[in-house]
Amino acid sequence: MTWPIVGQHQFLRPFRDETSSPGSATVMTDWDKIDGYGLFIRTDPFRNGLHYPAVLAELGDPNRMRILDVGCNEGLFPRLLAAQGASVVGYDAAPERIVEAKQQEQTRRLGIQYHVATPRTFASAQTFDAAVSVMVLNYAPSIEDLAAFFSSTERYLVPDGRFVSVVLNPAFSAFGEDFVVRRINKLEGRAVRMEFFDDDMSAPKLAAIQHHYTREEFERAAVHGGMRPQTWKDLFATAAAVAELGEDFWRPCHRAQPYALFIARKQS
Ligand SMILES: C[S@@+](CC[C@H](N)C(=O)[O-])C[C@H]1O[C@@H](n2cnc3c(N)ncnc32)[C@H](O)[C@@H]1O
Repeated sequence: MTWPIVGQHQFLRPFRDETSSPGSATVMTDWDKIDGYGLFIRTDPFRNGLHYPAVLAELGDPNRMRILDVGCNEGLFPRLLAAQGASVVGYDAAPERIVEAKQQEQTRRLGIQYHVATPRTFASAQTFDAAVSVMVLNYAPSIEDLAAFFSSTERYLVPDGRFVSVVLNPAFSAFGEDFVVRRINKLEGRAVRMEFFDDDMSAPKLAAIQHHYTREEFERAAVHGGMRPQTWKDLFATAAAVAELGEDFWRPCHRAQPYALFIARKQS
């Protein structure tokens, strides 16, 4: 299956973050410009066979759970959670993606609320049993911005509530390796470029600049945000995803572990 190619110049805008520490990227990914993301990610094996199932396994039955999705984009994960009975609020910094999410909500009416926000601007009268983020935290351009994700989320969690995040694995080192639908290349400092492919590997359909934070940096950011780092987990595809795509597809990913699950808990 092929998707419309989004040229790099269309979604990477020059950005100099004066507050960023040395080693952060000077180019940020503009998610407002990545119109094809929703279409791409809906059939992406990594989201559907690896990331979302890992978060769901960690959460347990989401039925009746109040869940905050940090960096929800056009709402694929919120829809999956709400379809299983959760009450979901999602926010994202990209206004165009939230427009799309709201259009989807008009069609399916799952009761999901969406907001255009960042951790520094998000405000809600609600509290949540759990918060989730799937490949969002690594877009923080600095340690301070990383900590802001935790301090904001902590404010809206119930005591003992968990923040479950899929992140770029701090221990990952297989840069440049072919993971069929992804390739991750190291840039300057802690910046990395993640390319998204469909299964023909001919040319990346999307690309995004992220930052490769260490385990200690994530844990320090959580503590700075008032949360307790709880655990790290490797990610393995579901049996259904292995049956569908085969062992050979998943082997490099299982071996190199490009992603990890990081769980932080609000103090009780
Ligand atoms: C790789 S996409 C992941 C989207 C979604 N979580 C998923 O499951 O596919 C990263 C998302 O994080 C959002 N994002 C990045 N930095 C953000 C910030 N500081 N505040 C809110 N959203 C942010 C982007 O706009 C983008 O939609």
